[in-house]
Amino acid sequence: MICHIEVYGCQMNVHDGEILSGILKAAGHSVVNNAKIAEAVFVVTCAVREHAETRALGRVTHLAGIPEKKPLMVLCGCVAQEHGERLLEKMKLLDFVIGPDAYHMIPELLHEHRRIAVTEQGIEDYEQVTAVREQFPRSFVTVMRGCDNFCTYCIVPHVRGRERSRPAELILKEVEGLVEAGYGEITLLGQNVNSYIHNGMNFPELLEKVSMVTGNKCRVRFVTSHPRDLTEELASVMAYRDNICNQFHLPAQSGNDRVLKAMGRGYTRKEYLKKVTMLKDLMPDIVLSTDMIAGFPGERPEEFEDTVSLLKEVRYDYAFLFRYSERQQTAALKISPAVPVKERLERLTILQELQAEITLEKSREIVGREMTVLVTGQARRAGQMASRTMGNRLVILESLDFTPGELVQVRIVRADGYTHFGEPVDLR
Ligand code: SAH
Ligand code: SF4
Ligand code: F3S
Repeated sequence: MICHIEVYGCQMNVHDGEILSGILKAAGHSVVNNAKIAEAVFVVTCAVREHAETRALGRVTHLAGIPEKKPLMVLCGCVAQEHGERLLEKMKLLDFVIGPDAYHMIPELLHEHRRIAVTEQGIEDYEQVTAVREQFPRSFVTVMRGCDNFCTYCIVPHVRGRERSRPAELILKEVEGLVEAGYGEITLLGQNVNSYIHNGMNFPELLEKVSMVTGNKCRVRFVTSHPRDLTEELASVMAYRDNICNQFHLPAQSGNDRVLKAMGRGYTRKEYLKKVTMLKDLMPDIVLSTDMIAGFPGERPEEFEDTVSLLKEVRYDYAFLFRYSERQQTAALKISPAVPVKERLERLTILQELQAEITLEKSREIVGREMTVLVTGQARRAGQMASRTMGNRLVILESLDFTPGELVQVRIVRADGYTHFGEPVDLR
């Protein structure tokens, strides 16, 4: 069957899309990036905010109408897990609704002549699957799946199930294979990589081992870390292993202690800032990013101001900013009073405008500096190549004279928001 896969949401989903592609190909199907000729269309969805969910379902309706003959429509990912059977009733277009732990059943289901929803959790680890990676020279490697934190606003633990860590031997074997295949960057993936634990091995130990396997030709990064679980041990491993990127996504969510508590985050502003200081002390060039939520239920204007001041105090290189969105099954639904949507949007705009300024300032700070970038492929504009710094900043090279996977020493000549322009440095 000719299959088309579309993915929404976080890196977990992106990599799940690669796993799904591997499953389909192993079963003899072809995976194309072309909805027009597809006989089966897969939409891997995100449920983290209402907007993401609505958009994904909108795509399903749109995609179903593209080929001449209606393709088999398969809804995968977190929205599938969230609604399961109910979606089959609601959306007649859908043939299958398959949660994130049941993709291995898809080849079999494609021969079924009845509509089915599968949302069992924790039944599959995908160890037998060879993911079809689409982003050479960058790659994802799962270290753990699921989340046990149950932050009160978040649906992820409900749709992704309990935490489970992969055996280190399997992770290291996968990493070895990627290095042999010439990959230049590996991102270790998990909803909370810091809770990785397998046969007594913790995340800093695993990270160190991975970085020893990858050597100096392949960089290592990871997402996501819960600030509560960030230890000095982890920061030290990052600081002394040169090939681990000095980049940290450390989602704060709020700058106010009462709100943090109501979110169930398990740290105070002061504790969070102490960790930021530790990272900056150990790695002065660290690139920091965060996620923030505006308008969590009960958030008072003066409490919101603490989030504003946290952005100013940390000066993140970039930030993912969201307005609070009500999610089914989450504890925050019971917290009142809700902040009116208009107010949430106003607060969000304040954060966005402030962060845009900071991002630009931080970007300008590196103009004139030299750094090593990993060439990742063609840029959107013709005649340009894209590359990434250790800090994960996008650097555009204005020539096609590079190959993906190549490491190039460049000088940053110009910055435009989060995009930079680099010129190769003559190493003679
Ligand atoms: N495991 C990761 C990613 C979680 S989802 C982590 O803990 O960082 C990504 C981000 O979406 C979260 O960090 C949070 O900022 C945001 N988010 C989650 N639930 C939300 C909700 N109900 N409304 C608005 N933003 C939300
Ligand atoms: Fe959601 Fe919190 Fe788990 Fe992140 S740590 S996925 S925000 S519950
Ligand atoms: Fe979204 Fe699921 Fe990731 S809800 S953020 S795609 S784990």
